[in-house]
Amino acid sequence: KLRQRGVIIVEPEEGFLACGESGRGRLARLETLLAAVRYALRRADMQGKPSFLAGQRVLITAGPTREYLDPVRFVSNASSGAMGFALAAEAAARGAQVRVVHGPTDLAPPPDTEALPVTTAAEMAEAVFAALDQADIFIGAAAVADYTPEAPAAQKQPKSAQTYELRLVPTTDIIAEVRRRKPHLAVVGFAAETHDVEARAREKLQRKGMDMIVANEVGRDKGFGPGDTQLTIILADGASRQTGPVAKDEAASLVIDALEDLLRARSGEST
Ligand code: C5P
Repeated sequence: KLRQRGVIIVEPEEGFLACGESGRGRLARLETLLAAVRYALRRADMQGKPSFLAGQRVLITAGPTREYLDPVRFVSNASSGAMGFALAAEAAARGAQVRVVHGPTDLAPPPDTEALPVTTAAEMAEAVFAALDQADIFIGAAAVADYTPEAPAAQKQPKSAQTYELRLVPTTDIIAEVRRRKPHLAVVGFAAETHDVEARAREKLQRKGMDMIVANEVGRDKGFGPGDTQLTIILADGASRQTGPVAKDEAASLVIDALEDLLRARSGEST
């Protein structure tokens, strides 16, 4: 009832409870509460402002994936999910219907979005392909593992003095496959690079058939997590724009602005 009136409910989290038991019932973390408040303010701010995203169905991937070598060990990366969640929040605040397929993350998915949690790249691919028919726009912000162990062990592997060789095989490229299945869908991708950032991003945009790519430089302490980020947004026609170092919320709003411009241009072309 309250939800129907637009009230944002921050659900309790799982964990240890004051009564000594463990389960669902902890007050949400400060981070989550603040994100919900920021979202509410943003939504109020955007209310009544016409947006190309209003009513559009946006499917977003966010966060890392985990590729298991055995039941307890995995290969992953430093993605926090912050960028994908910020994009999801921004799109929802502008009136879009948002679904977020996300890998393991400490962050809570934003209010007003439908979260579909997954763990592996294969699960992420499956969840995305299953939701594709209900999407008008796809944003691939997840740091999907490019490789996965060829033969994961069914049991935890014991330590030995020998060298451990791990053979990896490529995962499905979700964004390329989305484009293959849906030639007319608006497709936005990301490129996190340590070097040759713009050239590599342009190559990916072409090869994977994206309409827009968002490039940023990353390093061991750079580009992941809650810190500021600097982005280059490149369109399929070659045009690009650069953002200064900005917080992820602000970065998300600039990316969604660029996406709206793209959708507006596309709708102009078809009429
Ligand atoms: O080639 P690279 O992994 O750097 O490409 C990054 C872009 O491709 C991101 O948008 C990411 O979400 C997407 N991607 C994907 N499936 C993969 C690998 C990357 O959708 N298996």
